[in-house]
Amino acid sequence: MKYRAMRGTRDILPGETERWREAERVFSRAASSYGCREIRVPIFEATDLFERGIGEATDIVQKEMYTFLDRKGRSLTLRPEGTASVVRAYLEHNLGRGANVVRLFYTGPMFRYDRPGAGRYRQFHQVGVEFLGSPAPEADVETLEILIGFLRGVGLRRLETRINSLGCGECRPGYRTHLGEALKGMRSSLCEDCLSRVERNPLRVLDCKQEGCRALFGGLPVMVEHLCAACRAHMDRVEEILKQIGIAYVVDPLLVRGLDYYTRTTYEVHHAGLGSQSALGGGGRYDGLVEQMGGPPTPAVGFSAGLERVLLSLEEEGVSLAPPRGPDVFLAAADDAGVRESLRLAHDLRPDLEVERDYQRRNLKSQLKSASDRGARFVVILGEREVAQRTAAVKDMGAGTQVEVPLDGLREWLTERASGGSGAKPRCGPGGDPGQAGS
Ligand code: HAM
Repeated sequence: MKYRAMRGTRDILPGETERWREAERVFSRAASSYGCREIRVPIFEATDLFERGIGEATDIVQKEMYTFLDRKGRSLTLRPEGTASVVRAYLEHNLGRGANVVRLFYTGPMFRYDRPGAGRYRQFHQVGVEFLGSPAPEADVETLEILIGFLRGVGLRRLETRINSLGCGECRPGYRTHLGEALKGMRSSLCEDCLSRVERNPLRVLDCKQEGCRALFGGLPVMVEHLCAACRAHMDRVEEILKQIGIAYVVDPLLVRGLDYYTRTTYEVHHAGLGSQSALGGGGRYDGLVEQMGGPPTPAVGFSAGLERVLLSLEEEGVSLAPPRGPDVFLAAADDAGVRESLRLAHDLRPDLEVERDYQRRNLKSQLKSASDRGARFVVILGEREVAQRTAAVKDMGAGTQVEVPLDGLREWLTERASGGSGAKPRCGPGGDPGQAGS
């Protein structure tokens, strides 16, 4: 093979795409039920948008962006996340005009030049939600509820919710200095990256993934113990609502997140079965970002979740999301008259029903075998006799029964049964094999 998908990218094949579509459907349903409307933003933006939005000292900006010059020498970057673009679009199109809170959701590929591994890709896919315009702790909790609702909605159970507060412009600078002092005393034990983080932004040290560094963090001062009164009250209220609505959580004082724009609440939902890359999704409040991008002061909160990790966790829990299914109907032709009639019938049945037929004029036995291999729900057998009598022999592959149905009413007969008239669509056989579209 001369060409292969680039390292850290992967093809999503038939058989998998059904699961992806179902996960995206569950997500958009969860987000819409909280009043979110979909936004689609470009895959690339001016590099500066991400540098300023995400933060110069973050790993994403320092090491992970796919940045290139276009033909006019402008620096562009493949989006490493969605929030900065959503804020840009919100300002560019004045989406806040007249609205109290603007609630948006998005899905799509993101790009980070990271070391590929289990649950870590260079092109990965996020679903996300942003609420712009509300400072209320209720909004923080609602976004977290959407995330958890989505993850539970696809069938995940072994979830752990972690929350923290990163304070605000009032209380964070004092804490940062305090943390910086404490870290300076540990210089000899910190990794290279952390040494430069201590200088640039000591909070980023807490995001270090090196075991050696993490082992030192136990005794460090934590933000939640240095919150100003307003941030303390905000966090207390978030915790109170979480308890009221029965969302279990732990406070994780080291949860600083990998992006600089956060203020006050941050949260992540982890899955117990994913090793080191266990964060399925995360987010929090970013009250300063809209203003930093040139807009009016606008409090905001949101999250995004990684679909690859969600699907890996489903496998780990043994949940089968959108099990493979075959066509509704397989048309089998016994002779030339049957072929002619099946061409007409296929045209008539589509697009209401998924229809497959034989292209190779094989014998009836081979066609029935194909229908069974493909997991077809019904096989319609047509030949000279049936065409002359204007009927078809219809085999219910699940029940193993066969009946004669008049050709005139066949479309209605099949549609009613395939859409659940005789129960939900139980699918037999494996079906859905990659690349096996028809026989
Ligand atoms: P993030 O924590 O950087 O947040 O990414 C969110 C999720 O994307 C992660 O929890 C993970 O599931 C997935 N993810 C991140 N990097 C990779 C990767 N290399 N491979 C596979 N999956 C990955 C954000 O992106 C923020 N924009 C979230 C947000 C929205 N905050 C406020 N609003």
